[in-house]
Amino acid sequence: MAHELVLVIDFGGQYNQLIARRVREHKIYCEVISYKTPIEEIRARNPKGIIFTGGPNSVYLDTSPRMGKEIFELSVPILGICYGAQFLVLGLGGIVTEANENAVAEFGRTDCEFDNSSPLFSGLKEKSVVWMSHNDHIETLPEGFRSICHSDKCPYGAIENPEKKFYGTQFHPEVNHTEQGFDMLGNFLYKVCGCAGDWTMEEYAQTAIREIREKVGGGKALLALSGGVDSSVACKLLANAIGSQLTCIFVDHGLMRKNEGDEVEAAFADSGVNFVRVNAGDRFLGKLAGVDEPERKRKIIGEEFIRVFEEEAQKIGKVDYLVQGTIYPDVIESGLGDAAVIKSHHNVGGLPDYVDFKEIIEPLRLLFKDEVRALGTTLGLDEKLVWRQPFPGPGLAIRIIGDITPEKVVTLQDADAIFREEIANAGLDRSINQYFAVLTNMRSVGVMGDGRTYDYTLALRGVTTSDFMTADFSRIPYDVLEKVSVRIVNEVKNINRIVYDITSKPPATIEWE
Ligand code: XMP
Repeated sequence: MAHELVLVIDFGGQYNQLIARRVREHKIYCEVISYKTPIEEIRARNPKGIIFTGGPNSVYLDTSPRMGKEIFELSVPILGICYGAQFLVLGLGGIVTEANENAVAEFGRTDCEFDNSSPLFSGLKEKSVVWMSHNDHIETLPEGFRSICHSDKCPYGAIENPEKKFYGTQFHPEVNHTEQGFDMLGNFLYKVCGCAGDWTMEEYAQTAIREIREKVGGGKALLALSGGVDSSVACKLLANAIGSQLTCIFVDHGLMRKNEGDEVEAAFADSGVNFVRVNAGDRFLGKLAGVDEPERKRKIIGEEFIRVFEEEAQKIGKVDYLVQGTIYPDVIESGLGDAAVIKSHHNVGGLPDYVDFKEIIEPLRLLFKDEVRALGTTLGLDEKLVWRQPFPGPGLAIRIIGDITPEKVVTLQDADAIFREEIANAGLDRSINQYFAVLTNMRSVGVMGDGRTYDYTLALRGVTTSDFMTADFSRIPYDVLEKVSVRIVNEVKNINRIVYDITSKPPATIEWE
């Protein structure tokens, strides 16, 4: 079945992904496409609506993204946001004034009044707060437009041409700071574009399974299963689609959390796929012996991982398809500038060079993380895997500061398991985005019973974040921390002191190495 489609046209705004997420939260499928996409392609996709994103620049700069006028001739409703609204105005013959000392730039929370006779604001409160962020502003409206929202400073907070179904907002309805923003987007999608909301995970799963079957035919596929959400959901999806034509290789590097290797195996061993678990803990620990430099650890694990995978893949011989768990944010972000390398992330994405295959399948390519989780639930994947918090490829190796020994791995696994158990007992496991224990290489003096101890300090880390690029340390209640601390010191050998990490990111990173 063809989905209703909304196209988000990316003008370089920082919230492009957020807009797409919001549209999908309204159960309408959407994709983010470049403003350079040829108009024929846009027409051929027959969108129910188009949203122009914001953008970093003035519409008047030569380098600013623009599209040809044909975009206004598709008879498709358009919502322009911020830069997108200014582009709409300019493209249809209105005037946008460049930022100068007299012009009204607006940033941040702004009180606005809405005309709720417009479908965009229908059913909403007449006054509420929006999130403004613009230098340039709309000066004169194009023909057929009227203002439907204003602030003290800005007469054209939002505009409409109801006949053509063109709408523009100077503010950002997609961000949470805009109080009624979610409903405004809903109004655009349902009341202006006439969407019905047909994007459901059941439907997506059925379509994906059918497409994978058609593509793979009688061929063979290979997947590197890490046990993370993305590769686990990809594996489950492929298992449902092609069963024994899929081989998944799970390299257990011995640096997983307590019992995690067994949990992954239990989730997939009977799923109809060829499941290969490689217990390579000794091999990894052998290579890591005596290494204490974080980047060396990461490199060793990354290289060894590929070597083990390659050896196993060779046993299978040539495969037709390599499955990867790429998700939509990776797709949207790819190609956007070169950020400084803070840590070399080990990711199975680096495998294709080493495996003999014909083509890549990326079945999650169009899904956001929360949608990947919803798909996992729809497919009946074990909840533990669906809700697994992010776990770095190098595993506990980068949570043991200094050199790694098998004993330290067990100590950390035990302590971390207690921390996770108590967080779950306190009902905090879904509100703290990532939480874990770190075994420092610092020892200090303690007293237990009547004796002196000289043992390791364990650090606990918990962060709240939406994108893992920035993060705030979680305000875990003291009584929960106390319970964790008492249990760990009593139940785990070699630890006599517990500290809680109260740094945010930046300046710290989430992991310690
Ligand atoms: P940092 O420590 O850079 O972590 O603030 C951000 C997020 O990335 C995870 N992380 C990794 N994920 N391979 C991964 O797949 C890695 O090598 C890696 N290192 C860090 C980290 O757990 C956090 O969620």
